[in-house]
Amino acid sequence: MKQHITPTRTERLMQKDDFIVSKTDTRGRIRYCNRIFMEISGYTEQELLGRQHNIVRHPDMPRSVFDLLWRTLREGQEFFGYIKNLAKDGSYYWTFANVSPSLDSDARLIGYYSVRRAPERAAIEQIAPVYARMIEAEREAGAKAAISASRAILNDFLDQRAASYEHYVLAV
Ligand SMILES: Cc1cc2nc3c(=O)[nH]c(=O)nc-3n(C[C@H](O)[C@H](O)[C@H](O)COP(=O)(O)O)c2cc1C
Repeated sequence: MKQHITPTRTERLMQKDDFIVSKTDTRGRIRYCNRIFMEISGYTEQELLGRQHNIVRHPDMPRSVFDLLWRTLREGQEFFGYIKNLAKDGSYYWTFANVSPSLDSDARLIGYYSVRRAPERAAIEQIAPVYARMIEAEREAGAKAAISASRAILNDFLDQRAASYEHYVLAV
């Protein structure tokens, strides 16, 4: 069960040389986490192992970003994106995340692997207001239409820049 945490306005900053690494099984349960992950999220290894990765999900993150993440992974592709995470004490930390499928030597899926590094501030300043508009659209649209309403906002934003989400996040 996911514990309820009240988000605060306190931000934790990743250092320039920090890498947050985690590995999950095919269902998104954490199988490995590095020291930086534990330090910044405030969880112990024991608290993280075996848990769904949504343990650090922040309510400011649009559902459609995770929809895009899982679609990309299911297609066998790697995902790049800006993700705001929630620490155990309610503070938040922004990351630039790369998530990719892990395959065995027979090219069978054995899980997922992710590495996050410190995002550029300028990128967060651009993407945070877009995510806020997407969340608003998800709320207004209701559960069933949430993903498509939110995706439409993201697509508008990307269309203005003639880019896919991946191209945008890699270029910004
Ligand atoms: C390897 C891997 C890493 C992930 N990293 C994060 C992460 O840092 N933060 C996050 O909120 N979700 C992450 N996710 C996505 C979560 O599994 C989940 O889809 C997301 O938190 C949305 O949760 P919800 O469907 O319960 O709303 C990751 C998934 C995988 C497979």
